Amino acid sequence: MKVNGRHFRTIWLKENDPRVVQVIDQRALPHRFVIAEIKTVKQAAAAIRDMLVRGAGLIGATAGYAMYLAALEASRSTDFEAKLFQAAGELKATRPTAVNLARSVDLQLKRLALAPTPEAKIAAALGTAMQIADEDAEFCRRIGEHGLGLIQRLSKNKNGAPVHILTHCNAGWLAFVDYGSATAPIYAAHDLGVSVHVWVDETRPRSQGSKLTAWELGEHGVPHTIIADNTGGHLMQHGMVDMVIVGTDRTTCTGDVANKIGTYLKALAAKDNGVPFYVALPSSSFDWKLRDGLSEIPIEERDSDEVRFADGWHDDGHTEVRVCPEKSSAANYGFDVTPRRLVTGLITERGLCEANEESIRSLFPDLAGFAAIAE
Ligand code: MRU
Repeated sequence: MKVNGRHFRTIWLKENDPRVVQVIDQRALPHRFVIAEIKTVKQAAAAIRDMLVRGAGLIGATAGYAMYLAALEASRSTDFEAKLFQAAGELKATRPTAVNLARSVDLQLKRLALAPTPEAKIAAALGTAMQIADEDAEFCRRIGEHGLGLIQRLSKNKNGAPVHILTHCNAGWLAFVDYGSATAPIYAAHDLGVSVHVWVDETRPRSQGSKLTAWELGEHGVPHTIIADNTGGHLMQHGMVDMVIVGTDRTTCTGDVANKIGTYLKALAAKDNGVPFYVALPSSSFDWKLRDGLSEIPIEERDSDEVRFADGWHDDGHTEVRVCPEKSSAANYGFDVTPRRLVTGLITERGLCEANEESIRSLFPDLAGFAAIAE
């Protein structure tokens, strides 16, 4: 997508230095546009853990490039395999919920095992990293094409009046390599001249909605309004939301959806008010091994200081303030699971399906664990 008229992806190799990975440091947005460099596996793991990069698709793409850096590091060590597996473990331990992370690491391990020499392994790792990133961008572009019709239909029913879409967290291009999942149909509709307006959940504690989604929608010229997290139900009761589109970090093969904490409450409110609730995802976010989201999807718990403090921009620069009594403790659950019965449909790179095993498997009969990347 474009930033100040220039096309950016969220991750790429440095020009003239393919041993360096560059990313947009998302901690600085929307106040500053900072490009960070990742040169080692340790730095890649820290970038994922500390959320310079975040969002399921981008975490997966970063893990793909990190395994390429791991192959480079391993080629300078005395035991290639041991170094590689150490890196894989380190990366997988960074964030537990988004399945894209483990998928990329496992795919890289599989591909590297097939290459005979360290040089061939490095080449295979680089090729796979680029393939994961390209696939992510292309899948999101197609999600836009498949979700577009839903928005066009609502627009037609409203005689062209703005279609109000509520979204939670950031499932935009910043959460992927390009386009985004939940935002892809919105960008596609907006680009075609369909009138859309987005209700942007603030998404405490890290405020990915007000910081990231609002920024990227604004850069693209999409009308939007930031709302406090608890506002969605009220808006739905008053007919002010035509549809909800969210992303997901992991969706079971039966259609249970893990996404940023608070998604479940939006799904409940949507059900109660007859508002369609869609989840947009590339197939890389399906976990084909899990059947029950509530009991099986690991939910990340992060540092409670993310709840106890808020940060923002002040005339003198970035500032952080405590927003609760000094001695109060806090809990910081990163994700929740929305049961399939609350999901109207899934928007994928292959089209729409229902949130149930039969419908999902009929759209993806060929996938066992590595999505559409050829074995
Ligand atoms: O904690 P984050 O910012 O990585 O969480 C991101 C989300 O929950 C997104 O909605 C999710 O990744 C789905 S879109 C990739």
